[in-house]
Amino acid sequence: MKTADYINEINQLRIQKKALILAHNYQNDEVQALADIVGDSLALSRAAADSQAEVIVFCGVHFMAESAAILAPEKTILFPAENAGCPMADMADADEVLKWRKRYPKAVVVAYVNTSAAVKAVSDYCCTSANAVKLVKNIPESEIIFLPDQNLGSYVAKQVPDKIIHLWPGYCITHHHVEPESVTAIKELHPDAPVLVHPECRPEVTKLADFVGSTSQIISYVNNSARKKYIIGTEMGVIYGLQKENPAKTFYLLTKGLVCPNMKQTTVAKVLKSLQTMQPVVQVPSEIRIKAEQALNRMLEFL
Ligand code: 13P
Ligand code: SF4
Repeated sequence: MKTADYINEINQLRIQKKALILAHNYQNDEVQALADIVGDSLALSRAAADSQAEVIVFCGVHFMAESAAILAPEKTILFPAENAGCPMADMADADEVLKWRKRYPKAVVVAYVNTSAAVKAVSDYCCTSANAVKLVKNIPESEIIFLPDQNLGSYVAKQVPDKIIHLWPGYCITHHHVEPESVTAIKELHPDAPVLVHPECRPEVTKLADFVGSTSQIISYVNNSARKKYIIGTEMGVIYGLQKENPAKTFYLLTKGLVCPNMKQTTVAKVLKSLQTMQPVVQVPSEIRIKAEQALNRMLEFL
């Protein structure tokens, strides 16, 4: 079957099944093109919760579909790429979090959204890369276990030096491998382009950047800037939307290694199959869901 045939069938089924298709900014271009909404992980989970649709097709990685299931328990959350996990989210498990809680009894746990529902359920607050600094600054507690991303955690610790932050040793397999030498080299090639990087990059890299921000913050930076060229230091999928919104601007990917293999597992063929079979479905057991939702909601109180 050709891509156009898959898309025709998807278009018929999405109407029949009253389905909303959500795609993360890191998805393959053709998946972003067919989605009703493209965005960052939290915006997509909120869109799932706010929508009137009965069925959500979540094109992303597992923790994102789980967050949608936490916030929209009455809806059917289809997850076409059933083996697409996030290796960083897998670097924290709930039992280990409970051990850290015993080790640091005065600390609260701030969990990045890139965690399983079970880890969120044993955490006090969730955060995203867009609001981690604001949240850690505003919560009343001064001792924090930050997990699972050591790079986002150390970026936060630098901006909030008056708090004690214990860093979990997790990292993103895509962003952690960006080298500072690559930043220096690409800056020499394009000296007129600002370097925009995600805080999941290592501190040696973020310190060389002109702007550090989440995917949505990088997109707003570009949309609101008059500059003509940009060096993008996050997953390559973001360039699809940037180019679409800003056809006169030029984007250079910081290194060709900025590809998340899990994000690339979703294809139009898998989206069609999930709508035909109404499988695989992501569900979160209710006792975990209620606690995980509390951590997500507590995040909003302090922003
Ligand atoms: P966002 O929270 O910006 O969607 O990013 C998620 C992610 O996996 C970054 O690598
Ligand atoms: Fe996980 Fe990194 Fe992929 Fe984001 S880019 S989903 S953090 S592996």
